[in-house]
Amino acid sequence: MAARQIIKTQIAIMGAGPAGLMLSHLLATAGIQSSVVEVRSHKDISETVRAGILEHGTVNLLVESGVSDRVLREGDRHDGIELRFNGDSHRIDFKDLVGESVWLYPQTDVFMDLAARRKADGGEVHYGVTDPAVHDLEGKPKVWFTDSEGVEYEIQADFLVGADGSRSHCRFQIPEAHRKWYFHEYPFAWFGILAEAPRSADELIYANSGNGFALISQRTETVQRMYFQCDPKESVAEWDDERIWAEFRRRVNGNGFELKEGPVIDKMVLPFRSFVHTPMRYGKLFLAGDAAHTVPPTGAKGLNLAIHDVKVLFEGLDSYYGSGSTALLDSYSNRALDRVWKAQHFSYWMTSMLHTVPGTDDFDRARQLGELNSVISSRHGRAYLAEAYTGWPTTTT
Ligand code: PHB
Repeated sequence: MAARQIIKTQIAIMGAGPAGLMLSHLLATAGIQSSVVEVRSHKDISETVRAGILEHGTVNLLVESGVSDRVLREGDRHDGIELRFNGDSHRIDFKDLVGESVWLYPQTDVFMDLAARRKADGGEVHYGVTDPAVHDLEGKPKVWFTDSEGVEYEIQADFLVGADGSRSHCRFQIPEAHRKWYFHEYPFAWFGILAEAPRSADELIYANSGNGFALISQRTETVQRMYFQCDPKESVAEWDDERIWAEFRRRVNGNGFELKEGPVIDKMVLPFRSFVHTPMRYGKLFLAGDAAHTVPPTGAKGLNLAIHDVKVLFEGLDSYYGSGSTALLDSYSNRALDRVWKAQHFSYWMTSMLHTVPGTDDFDRARQLGELNSVISSRHGRAYLAEAYTGWPTTTT
């Protein structure tokens, strides 16, 4: 058998999702080499439907670091959301409350922009590899993999970054004595659809109802993205278009508001859970994005957290290669986790405030309406939600 081909680089990155590619791009802007390894094909990643809300800080990083300004041209700026309950909609005006906005720009497009920029800049990204394995995390890290043509490689690097998603291979290489896992399970999931229909509203609608939660999001002028709370064991095969729309109507329509309906072109059940791996470093391995944490999608935080992780990690690596100081690398995990736990709380809070827990009693339901009313009727309550949704500033120490 032929010997492994050796690739020497500074940073080996597992995973070419938004976190891995963004980090590779930021490193390239500072003259730091990286090599990215990904098990999925470029086509697979670009065809996976994912969430769509970007915080202003995520948008700024994409634009200012030179990835692309397509988000500003083709994304939709949203200056607020609507909370809908008891048949009425209540706007949370982000611009007025905290002076910020978010952008509706699907994760798939973020991936396409990053992948195109890396390609144009000659970045080394190996898609569609098989059998990736990492070694020597405490010493001189190595990544073994086989490329799509069957050639075997060994990457030798100073540091390794595990940005390899929620089923992370890297995470599982960290000895149990050196990590703590935090889990929270929820008694429901989301049934997500793509539908050919015009927009029903200018902004996203987060609807609480006695029949369960629904979220009305968007994609384009003619395709919309929507979700309703369902049982985690729900099977998509049992839901035809009529049954799906009847469920949305029960949860969202009323008091003069009617959803615009159309053919359902995609449907899926999205599991729900909260997970955090701490610390986000072991030896020369740093974890970033979904490899280290998962949030329920109600707060639209998953992608934004991943981008924030690599922004902070980049600062640490840049400072190390610039000055030899490990101080910022040593504080990476704490700085990243500071935001991760804020986002865990926000996602948990939005989820519990808006969903119906199966078997809930009259007290729970009336208390939940009290909570929603306390948020929308207070400027402080609305501002808390607006600040968290649009994204907190980065912690500097
Ligand atoms: C989406 O458009 O897919 C989306 C938007 C907001 C969320 C979750 C998903 O909170």
